Amino acid sequence: MSGHETPPIVRHDALVPLSRDHYVGLVHAHRLMKAASKDRVARHKALADFLEAWRTEIEPHFRDEERLLIHLIAGENDRRRLLDEHAAIERAAKEAVIKRRAVDPDPDFVERLGRDLEQHIRWEERVLFNHVQESASERQLKDLAVATEQVELTRNRGRGGCETDPGLSTGTGANDDRA
Ligand SMILES: [Fe+2]
Ligand SMILES: [Fe+2]
Repeated sequence: MSGHETPPIVRHDALVPLSRDHYVGLVHAHRLMKAASKDRVARHKALADFLEAWRTEIEPHFRDEERLLIHLIAGENDRRRLLDEHAAIERAAKEAVIKRRAVDPDPDFVERLGRDLEQHIRWEERVLFNHVQESASERQLKDLAVATEQVELTRNRGRGGCETDPGLSTGTGANDDRA
């Protein structure tokens, strides 16, 4: 099915700060997936790094999406999926605190956490954000832009670090695995 794909949709400015957050999430998702097949030291490190990012960036990002996007999502299925996946990843993050204490953290758990996070972000980038920017009114997108600009100010992005264009904001790099 790779022969004919819908041309990428340019990400609306109002959604760009949330797309930028996705870069951080993808970095950790890939680290977790890679660590699953490495040794216990790698798994401990990947879980510890994920939990730090969860606390400082990923969970705040989930809350921002729930606060700012939910009323702009026209489809009930999309709304449901966003909330269900956030809840599932949040449960897994809580479980990760316990799994991390094991001498050798469960590789399957580490792999699944990374994969679930990656798939959630990919779905938002490929499907959900496009639906939002297609169905929201200009007024709603303007209000969203004001709110996400504030969100952007709360993120402590290491300039020169995670600021590197993840290729997600333009919709052109959604298939890349650059992490
Ligand atoms: Fe999300
Ligand atoms: Fe997201």
